[in-house]
Amino acid sequence: MSQKEAWGSRIGLVLAMAGNAVGLGNFLRFPAQAAQNGGGAFIIPYLVTFVLMGLPLLWIEWAIGRHGGQFGHHSCPGMFDKMGRGRWLKYVGVFGLFANLTIAAYYCYLESWTLAYVWHSIIGTFRETLPSAFLDQYLGKPESGILSTPGEALFWFVLTLGLNVWILSRGLSKGVEMASKIGMPLLIVFGAILAVRGLMISTSDPKVVESPLVGLNFVWNPRFDGLLNPTTWLAAAGQIFFTLSVGMGSAHCYASYLRKKDDIALNAASAGWMNEFVEVLLGGSILIPISVAYLGLPAVMEATKGGGFALGFLTLPTLFNNWGWFAPVAGAMWFGLLFFAGITSSLAMGQPVMAFLEDEFKVQRSRSSLAFGAVTLALALPCIFFYHSGMFDEFDFWAGTFGLVVFALLESFIFAYVFGMDKGWDEITRGADMKVPLTFRFIIKYVTPLFILTVFVGSLIKPSKPWGESFSDLFSGNGWSLDPGSVIGKLMHVGVKDYTWFNAVGGMTNHFVEDITRLLLLLLFIGCAVLVYVALNRKKESSQ
Ligand code: ALA
Repeated sequence: MSQKEAWGSRIGLVLAMAGNAVGLGNFLRFPAQAAQNGGGAFIIPYLVTFVLMGLPLLWIEWAIGRHGGQFGHHSCPGMFDKMGRGRWLKYVGVFGLFANLTIAAYYCYLESWTLAYVWHSIIGTFRETLPSAFLDQYLGKPESGILSTPGEALFWFVLTLGLNVWILSRGLSKGVEMASKIGMPLLIVFGAILAVRGLMISTSDPKVVESPLVGLNFVWNPRFDGLLNPTTWLAAAGQIFFTLSVGMGSAHCYASYLRKKDDIALNAASAGWMNEFVEVLLGGSILIPISVAYLGLPAVMEATKGGGFALGFLTLPTLFNNWGWFAPVAGAMWFGLLFFAGITSSLAMGQPVMAFLEDEFKVQRSRSSLAFGAVTLALALPCIFFYHSGMFDEFDFWAGTFGLVVFALLESFIFAYVFGMDKGWDEITRGADMKVPLTFRFIIKYVTPLFILTVFVGSLIKPSKPWGESFSDLFSGNGWSLDPGSVIGKLMHVGVKDYTWFNAVGGMTNHFVEDITRLLLLLLFIGCAVLVYVALNRKKESSQ
């Protein structure tokens, strides 16, 4: 029999939900996105997107979750099945299993690096070794061919996954809630110490290129030109999805353990704002200001082209060496905070998968946590061994970026038009400890779905040139130049010169790995859908 789960306290729930949201995205992805999209020009579209899309989606997901929980469903397929009469609804819920399984696979790998880096910061590895050389060796970068040969990275990954499984097996209150109550405050304290130390970097130090305040000013000084650039809006929306963990099925799951009249309006808003506080205030005050101080703004902007990850793992450990005896402590704090941010998010990816097995197949908690661990391991191993040939990035794009938009688009329509806005609004406001402004009823019904639809279409057809120029090209009969990173561009291999699966000597190419990964993801989605079919049909039959 599956055990009955419940949250131990309200603060525990909010911290767990905030922990679900606060993750590596807050400290690595956000600063890089801000830097790549013009710093202050990014902030306004980002905050507008939070209010018009992020916050409404949080309310929608908490409402769907608490509603489904009343029927004993704590994962998306069952919850969506209860949103209306259509048999198809439960298959929309498949996204809530698929996203968590696939994202957990590559996310736990990244999370495990942070644990390894805590250890290596403490033992002083980065005093002697350049972080870039260390990382290549750590990940087993191949000299030639497509297969990586990691050694140490595998050890830390298995340890990290084992830790996730162990915490999950302890149950909601003793496991997830406890981990969030420890991890979240520590993360904030570490972040605050690093931010203050970073902002105290003095320009009288000969190694300092410019004041860290230049970096802070770059991120924070609002500029209105970003409002007119659709690419900035797309980037802002992508960041909101990833950072709030919306469109994943994890918030639904956590909310499903609430009682019918428990507040969701204030709790969801608190968790969302806590994420924004950590992201914008802490996430914006560490990586960029410290890097700008020692490297200068142009070099930092160049470095963020490869994503925040490069700055966080490759640059920062070396820069900390400028801090004398504090360097190993700073390194341990930085990677420690990333680890806490990561694990409180990956736990939220495990719980929905376990809940599905427990609710629909009556699997015991200890076994369901092991099953989550086993599937995550099976999916992560190819990501680890084909890391350098792009499998990790494929997972991140299809499951962790585009998949979230598709699921959020479907759920926002289903909530407003299948479940119905009257019932939906009642669900959001029942037991509410705050007055949700009535404008949000309008926003949830019209603005949020349209907003997500625009993001969806934008990511399909993102042009390689500025949007204005692309439209004038189109209207003057010169066609549309697709960006290789757009969804259609990726599917059609736009910009790839020699698209071939095998090279001249018969070895597999990265394109082969990319296409195989897409097939694997598709098969996994179908596999999840078959499980949902079996589970929910069986349930219906046994209740007849
Ligand atoms: N929301 C999580 C993050 O920001 C996934 O990393």
